[in-house]
Amino acid sequence: MRATTSTVDLLNWYDRHARSLPWRVSPRDRQCGIVPDPYQIWLSEVMLQQTTVAAVKDYFEKFVRLWPTVRDLAAADDEDVMKAWAGLGYYSRARNLKKCAQIVANDLGGVFPDTEDGLLALPGIGPYTAAAIAAIAFDRPAPVVDGNVERVLSRFHAITTPLPAAKPEIRAAMADLTPADRPGDFAQAVMDLGATICTPKRPACAICPWTGSCSARASGLAETLPNKAPK
Ligand code: ADE
Repeated sequence: MRATTSTVDLLNWYDRHARSLPWRVSPRDRQCGIVPDPYQIWLSEVMLQQTTVAAVKDYFEKFVRLWPTVRDLAAADDEDVMKAWAGLGYYSRARNLKKCAQIVANDLGGVFPDTEDGLLALPGIGPYTAAAIAAIAFDRPAPVVDGNVERVLSRFHAITTPLPAAKPEIRAAMADLTPADRPGDFAQAVMDLGATICTPKRPACAICPWTGSCSARASGLAETLPNKAPK
């Protein structure tokens, strides 16, 4: 959609406060025309599926050092890949990683698909990961919704419907907010906001770029949302 004051405020905040992550192209570098490496974005997103950013960093750097391109990973020994993955858990991810690398290297000429549908057809890539790669690696306006984004948007719009029933509403809100310009940075900005300011407990509303436009903040609900259905 067209950039709104809120999207511009968030992108301006991201330009100054983006986390420095080993797979990320900083907003400044991006402005200089440096584009992310789809192989690195895919690798990081698969690692981040069930693992925290802090735990993924070293593994990501090790994989890129050992296998700098998707062709290198496709040609690697299965055993070496499993060994390098050891400790990250959910080992089906490592098996699918290898399978996916072989398809991209051998059947797709070493080039990752640049659409959500094309990415979804690959092993180990579900709807969330397809959207994240499409947005971050290819700057497509795919709505990227993880736990952080659910929390940020349920607060921004004061969505009181409990999770998981609220998911479609939150997804629609993310699709609606995502700007045509810099959709990949926007997705990463919402993630960073959730990780550093709009935290589950004691959100730092006083320094939030959305403090003036956040409905939960206005109604005193910032810390209580999102609502969750009883288990
Ligand atoms: N969690 C999942 N994907 C992420 C990303 N690209 N950056 C930070 N956290 C994430």
